Amino acid sequence: MTGDLTGKVAWITGGAQGFGAAVARRLASRGVDVVLSDVKREAGEAVAADIGGAFVECDVSSYQACQAAVAAVVERHGRLDIAFLNAGITTGCSVAEDFDPALYRRAMGVNIDGVVYGAHAAFAALRADGGGDLIATASLAGLTGTAFDPIYGANKHAVVGLVRAIGDDWPNHGIRVNAICPGFADTEIVNEIRGMLAESGIPLIKVEAVVDAFMAALASGRSAECWYIQPGREAEPFRFRGIPGPRVEE
Ligand SMILES: NC(=O)c1ccc[n+]([C@@H]2O[C@H](COP(=O)([O-])OP(=O)(O)OC[C@H]3O[C@@H](n4cnc5c(N)ncnc54)[C@H](O)[C@@H]3O)[C@@H](O)[C@H]2O)c1
Repeated sequence: MTGDLTGKVAWITGGAQGFGAAVARRLASRGVDVVLSDVKREAGEAVAADIGGAFVECDVSSYQACQAAVAAVVERHGRLDIAFLNAGITTGCSVAEDFDPALYRRAMGVNIDGVVYGAHAAFAALRADGGGDLIATASLAGLTGTAFDPIYGANKHAVVGLVRAIGDDWPNHGIRVNAICPGFADTEIVNEIRGMLAESGIPLIKVEAVVDAFMAALASGRSAECWYIQPGREAEPFRFRGIPGPRVEE
């Protein structure tokens, strides 16, 4: 989505804090009407009040809740132009001895079901009025192996796969679909590993750099791209290596 954003309407999941709240502030400063969704009602309402937006409570792992949230956006503003499917959590277990089926389902529920449900809920509203933009928050963990949280790596790869798939198709409906893929960034989600990251000399990405990458993806006018974000580098679409073609035996 290029140019003037005034009067556009955005729905942001995981909007109570971190990337979601920061993108909400930037979009609101550009004249966008923002509706935030999160499971954290108090924090979400506070951000919404601050930016003159609205808050609709929504657990993205619920199909019905995503449907209801988008319906509330459309009821309030009559349209939807930008869906930022950003809610996400870490897992809390691996696939080895400590595997916990409940933690596994919870992580997949938020990180991949939440993006599929959010995309499906937003599709019709984005398509109406000439199309729009869907941006999902994946991660560098969706582009490379992440031994520290394999289930997170699995669901973030799934987000990348989904974005590349519908990102090739949905432009037929006027909807561009892209992902942002940050490395470790300075939000609450990294609190438990902050010490380890600092000891290892791994710098954290500033939240504003993630917002800049979101805005660049939004302004690109392209689709099916996954923008990697690394400290000190300008974000850009990750270049996937093409699959070698078939070799036919004579
Ligand atoms: N910070 C990082 O290092 C980093 C790196 C790469 C990707 N990400 C991804 O960025 C996204 C945003 O995370 P953040 O870094 O801003 O962390 P954050 O923890 O500050 O924000 C995540 C938000 O998602 C919300 N949320 C959690 N479960 C939810 C649910 N079921 N329904 C609705 N909302 C829910 C939380 O309440 C919170 O407000 C996540 O998808 C995360 O996986 C973060």
